Amino acid sequence: MSESTTIIIFGVSGDLAQRKLIPGLFNLFQKKKLESNFRIVGLAGRPWQDEDLRATARKSIDSFAGFKVENDKWNEFAGKLFYISGDFRNEQSYNTLSEKLEFLEKGAANRLYYLATPPDFFIDIIENLGKTNQVDELEGWRRVVIEKPFGTDYESAKKLNSEIHKVLNEEQIYRIDHYLGKETVQNILVARFANTIFEPIWNRNYIDNVQITVAEKVGLERRAKYYDKVGVVRDMFQNHLLQLLSLIAMEPTASYKANDLRDEKVKVIKSIRRIPFEKVESEAVRGQYRGYSQEEGVSEGTQTPTFAAIRFYIDNWRWQGVPFYLRSGKRMPEKVSEIVIQFKKPPHLMFPLPEEYEFSANRLTLCLQPDEGIHLKFETKVPDTIAETRSVDLEYHYRDVFGKDAIPEAYERLLLDAITGDASLFTRGDRSELAWELIDPILQAWESPNAPPLPIYEQGSWGPIEADMLLAGDSLKWQRGCGNH
Ligand code: BG6
Repeated sequence: MSESTTIIIFGVSGDLAQRKLIPGLFNLFQKKKLESNFRIVGLAGRPWQDEDLRATARKSIDSFAGFKVENDKWNEFAGKLFYISGDFRNEQSYNTLSEKLEFLEKGAANRLYYLATPPDFFIDIIENLGKTNQVDELEGWRRVVIEKPFGTDYESAKKLNSEIHKVLNEEQIYRIDHYLGKETVQNILVARFANTIFEPIWNRNYIDNVQITVAEKVGLERRAKYYDKVGVVRDMFQNHLLQLLSLIAMEPTASYKANDLRDEKVKVIKSIRRIPFEKVESEAVRGQYRGYSQEEGVSEGTQTPTFAAIRFYIDNWRWQGVPFYLRSGKRMPEKVSEIVIQFKKPPHLMFPLPEEYEFSANRLTLCLQPDEGIHLKFETKVPDTIAETRSVDLEYHYRDVFGKDAIPEAYERLLLDAITGDASLFTRGDRSELAWELIDPILQAWESPNAPPLPIYEQGSWGPIEADMLLAGDSLKWQRGCGNH
């Protein structure tokens, strides 16, 4: 196989390419993780020359790479950056691209095509790559990275998959979910399966409930045009939150190979109990932050939810009866992603405690961001009492063990994996469709003309009161386990 590789970025002038992809590639280059014989070719609509791309890329790296760039490293990297001004829908642009690639590659080379464009272009780009024979694997591998959102519901995801499969086989397709690229998300499987202390109790016999929170402080960030059409469930649940749930709930695999891992994750999605249209009201809560409808770019009378909380059950032996509560929203009090595993209370307490004593159960929290680590809450005896107890926290922080800069950007890892051909952290087509099939009834219920009024929540709050009531109905509260909680 050729050791020469070209990375082609469609939409190279856009936000994603400039904030994440170019700085990520530069970092990989600096760490010598890329073969020396590589080049990056960007294609977008702007009438730029190579020099314009280089100047913009330098600014992006200075702003987003998180360290000072050495000039000689930069010069070497800049010499590998090329630009083509083109139209994603015009076959002629693909002929120009093909000629430029042949000129730059000077022989056999691998190619990674990265679709960092709005989703409306995915099919056009892939069809045109097919028409201009750019995905045949005669002279090196050909892979295509597809950004999210992958469809907007089950039917559209199915159609997208079938159109893409006309040109590419599944092994060539790398569907991105950047949450899987996060170091702490990858650590979920290590925590579960590289230790023997957790797995025996990781089931319905010991776990009372699981709570997954992915909260953001930010609002729309100039993305109204995209966000107002999708809302929080399509934006965060179908992909990120359900991936987290799958990692917590899946069975161990025999190997760490992409398809073995993905098979087990798919089994989880298949086992999640479907919430029928008529039960959505009791199992799921949505909300919109106050002031959202006045934000620039949202449609008049918008009903787009910016917050949701959903209760899922998994119908298998390990998880029967254990509720999984998922919540995510914008304009929350803080940015935090964490997974709380709430254990059951001891079956009997032998200690002489007052009758109404509130005894806490153990809680393991996987802190994904920003306080990356793991917290374990357990009970200890208060000194100089007969047997009064208090909860204390055993904490592990990445920064203490590995240093504060040890955690790479998710995109860096994902780019490298796509280049080395490891698809473990990418979404397989069947998973994508199944996850849509699971959430479609929720979207349909909320988007139906008979949907109950959309609750409004205050900015800086944890969502509408209905989200608390969802758990209160099960005599529970939302838990926080990272930071100082
Ligand atoms: C993206 C969503 O996939 O994830 C955004 O489109 C969201 O709306 C973002 O802000 C959150 O990612 P992170 O890595 O900041 O938690």
